[in-house]
Amino acid sequence: MMANEGGSRSVTTEKTITARVVTMSLLADSILAIELKRTDGAPLPPATPGAHIDLHLQNGLIRQYSLTTADGDPASYIVAVKRDRASRGGSAFVHDHLRVGDVIEISAPRNNFPLDEDAKCSVLIAGGIGITPILSMMRRLRENGAAFELHYSCRKPTEVVYAAELAASKEINVHLSQELATIDLQKIIAQAPPNAHFYCCGPLPMIEAFEAAASIVDAERVHVERFSNNAIMATEGGYVVKLERDGRSFVIPQGQTILSVLREAGLELSFSCEQGICGSCETSVVSGRPDHRDSILTEAEREASATMMICCSGSHSDVLVLDL
Ligand code: FES
Repeated sequence: MMANEGGSRSVTTEKTITARVVTMSLLADSILAIELKRTDGAPLPPATPGAHIDLHLQNGLIRQYSLTTADGDPASYIVAVKRDRASRGGSAFVHDHLRVGDVIEISAPRNNFPLDEDAKCSVLIAGGIGITPILSMMRRLRENGAAFELHYSCRKPTEVVYAAELAASKEINVHLSQELATIDLQKIIAQAPPNAHFYCCGPLPMIEAFEAAASIVDAERVHVERFSNNAIMATEGGYVVKLERDGRSFVIPQGQTILSVLREAGLELSFSCEQGICGSCETSVVSGRPDHRDSILTEAEREASATMMICCSGSHSDVLVLDL
């Protein structure tokens, strides 16, 4: 993902892992690599390419960061954190206060940006710090001996991470430009092998340009990971949420989300970002028509509405039944 600066708090019922910061190093201008290991020495849960974890920072904020490597039996996780000039305590706290030896809680990996390892060819497109999930994909594709190309756009040479590793491969093009979205996405997509899968992670203008250029490609071969969710949260209210297993029903009033109402009622629910970008609050839908506002579900998944993100999405139907 990902380095969102949204307003999530340090309250979650998801089981966390106690981890120690074992190394920190400067990868590029304003970008730190942070390595974490479990304090009990046990292996960490497996990760797949494109996955992210939550860091529960000591200032009470929870932030999501992509893993730069994906391992089936990892001894440690590595995330890269860019200092965001608009940071309200996330990346600025990491850069200014998190130190080697600190012990924090982290989540197990979640993956909203999975790699299709059966694809004949993968075209990876990254802008700035969006390189982090793309790196784990590139490394897995290399291990698999699979065909891929990587187009990585950075504003200046000093912002390029793992420059030596990236320079050692002819499949990788590093574009330097003040405007990350100026990369010729239409040409890249038009010239890709038939049936290639396309992946993009970067700032919003790049994602929008990518989605426009990739509109000629089957949706199931187009994959994006966003830093933030620009959709407006569904707080219109005026519908009832019925909990299938719990048996209770709740009126969702104007100004509230399903998550906020259920939490006020004392339900223990998993959540993290509260912006529709992490997937922590994904809940199965039994019946009704959700009003999806997240940035995770694909169009096909929205159509099917088997699940929804209850932190930001609402309901088009008068009654929504959830598997809770
Ligand atoms: Fe992150 Fe809902 S809490 S998607």
